[in-house]
Amino acid sequence: MKSSSPATLEKIISLCKRKGFVYQAADIYGGLNGVYDFGHLGTLLKQNIRNAWINGLYDANDNILLLEGSLLGPAAVWKASGHLEHFHDPMVDCRNCKHRYRADEQDLEKPCAACGKKEWTDVRMFNMMFKTEVGASTQHATSAYLRPETAQAIFINFKNVIATNRVKIPFGIAQIGKAFRNEINPKQFLFRMREFEQMELEWFCKEKNAQDFFEFWSEQQLSFCTSIGLNPKKLRLRAYEKGELAHYSQATSDIEYEFPFGWKELEGIAHRGTFDLSQHTAASGKELTVYDEETKQSYIPTVIESSIGVDRLFLTLMFDAYDEDTAEGEQRIVLRLAPSMAPIKAAFFPLTKKLSEPTLTLYHAMKKKGISVLFDDTGSIGKRYRRQDEIGTPLCFTYDFDSEQDQCVTVRDRDTMKQERIAIDRVGDYLAEKLSKKDVK
Ligand code: GAP
Repeated sequence: MKSSSPATLEKIISLCKRKGFVYQAADIYGGLNGVYDFGHLGTLLKQNIRNAWINGLYDANDNILLLEGSLLGPAAVWKASGHLEHFHDPMVDCRNCKHRYRADEQDLEKPCAACGKKEWTDVRMFNMMFKTEVGASTQHATSAYLRPETAQAIFINFKNVIATNRVKIPFGIAQIGKAFRNEINPKQFLFRMREFEQMELEWFCKEKNAQDFFEFWSEQQLSFCTSIGLNPKKLRLRAYEKGELAHYSQATSDIEYEFPFGWKELEGIAHRGTFDLSQHTAASGKELTVYDEETKQSYIPTVIESSIGVDRLFLTLMFDAYDEDTAEGEQRIVLRLAPSMAPIKAAFFPLTKKLSEPTLTLYHAMKKKGISVLFDDTGSIGKRYRRQDEIGTPLCFTYDFDSEQDQCVTVRDRDTMKQERIAIDRVGDYLAEKLSKKDVK
């Protein structure tokens, strides 16, 4: 069914803007580089992504608690976590045109792509955290940082969480929230942003079980990606070489996706050992341990982390679902999103405006069931189908003049484009059945 026409970054950006999935932040003021706002459809898609992630974790294991940590953290947190010292990217400027590059992504033997001159500055290290002052008077203000990863909020709340919940090792703390990185070169739209959202699980276990859990969560998260419809042929797990590891990690594997710009990281699964809890214990003086009933001793648990960006997954879903083909004699763009990811699950059309009232009654009945639906009475039915295909709506229902007599509507499937007639009182069940379809391609 999927045609061979490939999605390009330009086509995805254009679709996202045209249909109101994503807007450039502060657009009317010329925009803010690397920062985006999400419109109605984008917000719905993000909600679907978050829900699927949480439900995927709950399906995998019962012992998962939630946290929503603060975005600002005092310098002490980032000193202990190592981010003040290590969270740097190498930066280089072109002396001639002042264009700035990440030195690890720019071949310094080659000239500047912007002006063609080869006049590089020395490479400097640039800390990617956003710093701010907290407090009204400059005299008494203290420095704070916007978090560059959500994970640290989990580690510094470890004591609170175990004191207020009846949990035993192994268990996980999951969090979805914003993270901020002053990327030298934000690029590829939602792939590398300065403000983005992460979904992170920190899994606390005994050291002797850590490798098994590392493998378990790697497989689990890979199957999460296919469960939301991503093409398994475009996904792979890649283990890091020693030299690639972050300062906190003993082992890391990335789930990579084959983007038009190459195989790139979609998600990271990291063996963080006891690094973070040990660092925060030493820096805060508070013991971040659990008691082992078997050995009658307290110990710092080992951490396995899975971390994926909501926005990067959003972009991946768009690339994976984007297709162009011919429908009813016309070229169309179709987003073949899995039903669980589609922002709008079904659209309701009256054949003419005269039939709006009974169509609206059906639309409202489905909306009351909590289904994300849309009503459209403008333009030809063919045009209305095209509009829904482009935003990935799996099903369209048309109420026509026969509906009054036979109490049936025509339902049309986005992918097969097949139409069938079904009884109006079956629409709810029909939708429930079609939308629960397993999302594996
Ligand atoms: N706590 C571990 C951590 O933050 P990371 O590999 O730096 O690890 C995890 O980030 C995930 O967050 C990435 O796999 C990616 O999906 C997302 N991510 C990281 N930086 C991003 C950025 N600048 N823009 C969008 N998503 C980003």
